[in-house]
Amino acid sequence: MGFFDWAAPLIRRYGDRFGAEDAVTIAGWLRAAVEPGGHVLDVGGGAGQLAALLADTLTAHVTVLDPTAAMLSHVPTRPRITAVSGSAEDIPLPDSAFDAIVVTDAFHHFRDQDAAVREFARVVRPGGAVLVLDLDPRPLAMRVIALAERLVGEPAAFMTPEQMCTFMASRGIPGECTPEAGASYRFLGRVEKDLTAA
Ligand SMILES: C[S@@+](CC[C@H](N)C(=O)[O-])C[C@H]1O[C@@H](n2cnc3c(N)ncnc32)[C@H](O)[C@@H]1O
Repeated sequence: MGFFDWAAPLIRRYGDRFGAEDAVTIAGWLRAAVEPGGHVLDVGGGAGQLAALLADTLTAHVTVLDPTAAMLSHVPTRPRITAVSGSAEDIPLPDSAFDAIVVTDAFHHFRDQDAAVREFARVVRPGGAVLVLDLDPRPLAMRVIALAERLVGEPAAFMTPEQMCTFMASRGIPGECTPEAGASYRFLGRVEKDLTAA
């Protein structure tokens, strides 16, 4: 049993930190790529709190992808929200099906980030957006958090903003990394080419 299977009763509440203001901010970052009626994929979306807020704020369809049944079972059952069981590394959804991907506090949990980003480039339409909110591992507090995550069997594969931007750009998703509160930062990029076309 993995960390999120046994920790889900606690971790699923973590998504409650998102409020209407956050949704307006995040929707603002995505709006250039997501028109009303568009499609967003929340990878590692957990219990779907952000998905529900974004579905309302963007008037979009939001799919929550997560491998942990105990998280996914709490995704709200409502129009324009879909819960799909699966991993970032092997997304069980069609090519170019989404206008944007969001990944909040989940990217460092992916065991094969290379495969995950290849999947992002496949399922997002050319020109679509990829938004990753994650944590810079350099501050001391973050080093302690990374150690704690490794102790419970998680990869804690945190990237600095510079590493994230380089990693994404070299895989066809150039973008910018911008500091957020505390150790958080956001990566916002555009899928430049269809990597599946080769
Ligand atoms: C800390 S929670 C964050 C949940 C939500 N995105 C949020 O910000 O509240 C991390 C989530 O990533 C999911 N996860 C872990 N490994 C994953 C993978 N390989 N692919 C997709 N999701 C994964 C976990 O099941 C968990 O729901």
